[in-house]
Amino acid sequence: MQENIQLFRGGIFYFSNNDPHSFRFIQDGALVIKGHKIVETGPFSPLKIKYDVPVVDYKDYLIMPGFIDSHIHFPQLSIIGSYGKHLLDWLSNYTFPEESAFSSAEYSKQMAKQFIHHLLKNGTTSCMAYTTVYPNSTDALFEAASAISMNMIAGKVMMDREAPDILRDTPLIGEEQSRHLIEKWHHNGRNRYVITPRFAVTSSREQLRTVGKLHHDFPDTYIQTHLSESQQEISTVLELFPECKSYLEVYDKAGIVTDRTVFGHCIHLSDKERQRIKSCDSIIAHCPTSNLFLGSGLYPMESSNELGIQTVLATDIGAGTSFSMFKTMDEAYKVQQLNNYSLNAFEAFYKCTKGAAVALKLEDEIGSFDSGCYADFIVVDPAATELQQLRKDDLLKSGKWNIENQLFGLMIQGDERNILHTYISGKRCDN
Ligand code: GUN
Ligand code: ZN
Repeated sequence: MQENIQLFRGGIFYFSNNDPHSFRFIQDGALVIKGHKIVETGPFSPLKIKYDVPVVDYKDYLIMPGFIDSHIHFPQLSIIGSYGKHLLDWLSNYTFPEESAFSSAEYSKQMAKQFIHHLLKNGTTSCMAYTTVYPNSTDALFEAASAISMNMIAGKVMMDREAPDILRDTPLIGEEQSRHLIEKWHHNGRNRYVITPRFAVTSSREQLRTVGKLHHDFPDTYIQTHLSESQQEISTVLELFPECKSYLEVYDKAGIVTDRTVFGHCIHLSDKERQRIKSCDSIIAHCPTSNLFLGSGLYPMESSNELGIQTVLATDIGAGTSFSMFKTMDEAYKVQQLNNYSLNAFEAFYKCTKGAAVALKLEDEIGSFDSGCYADFIVVDPAATELQQLRKDDLLKSGKWNIENQLFGLMIQGDERNILHTYISGKRCDN
């Protein structure tokens, strides 16, 4: 019997390479972990003999890598489902008032616990999060993630105009606070820092320049911002930056279009902007529940795929309406149907597991069951509800209960009820 080894039996599913066709499915498989990390996967029987340890039996379930949510707003969990209007009104009416409550360190701590609870309940084991303009909210989130050794990428929002006074920093203060947070949290445990200018409406030229400078000083941090989400937003940006011919040019001029930049939305880009994103190898976070909720538009995923742009899937809580990546995939499917592109289950799951890990250059750590990755995984019941059971029975009868059908059912009908357990760094943490 080997020390510190755990062996989980179940249907093992993951992507072993940089494309959605590289999936690996072992019906009666085993996941072997040692401490925080993956050792190997394979058919159950030989691995049981090889390791000779007690088995954690999830035989009727799928075991897969936890989800990666690449664009989410920590302070917005209590404003999900706030009625009415489009992006800019929604920000003023609901988002900014709630974000101002995070000036309280106590409130930030309380909400950070809730936020992580909901991620785990939905099987999300890594995320890239916006916090608020207040550094204590960023501290609160990193502290809560550190308590469970979670892979957390987060950053303080930088915002020096077009927002209420209490939510504004200045180019200098935003830069100093971000620098301090980078020094405190970047590579502290599993945490990483993402420099976070909210978007070009709320950051001046001077502030955007500080983002470029910070990234130059700390080149392995990330940058996240919003781009081309709504028509009204685009017009506002072009009025605020008359010297720029396109929205992307605003960010380009500041030197922040990089291969570590995640742009949220990118619904209404011109061909030229798309080409530029491709040539810089930047990442697009597609947030379908948010885009439908705010009526922002239909992200052209197929065109991005054809150009070789990396698209990842994300919730964008709280304009996004669910923490569930199943629901996110469901809405992504429907958005793409309206674009005449039928998103298949493998591509959808890839874009919130291995594909997101590759885009974020974290494939050695998360998103798959490759040996040496952290043991961040979920146990999924593909038939947790009566209707899902009916669908399964029907497919079993016709001999079509295969992995593709299981995944597609999950992405269309699934939610948190399908997540039986969530493990982070080898430890169950959903209770
Ligand atoms: N653009 C700038 N800030 C936000 C935000 O908080 N949510 C969304 N959906 N878009 C934004
Ligand atoms: Zn967002």
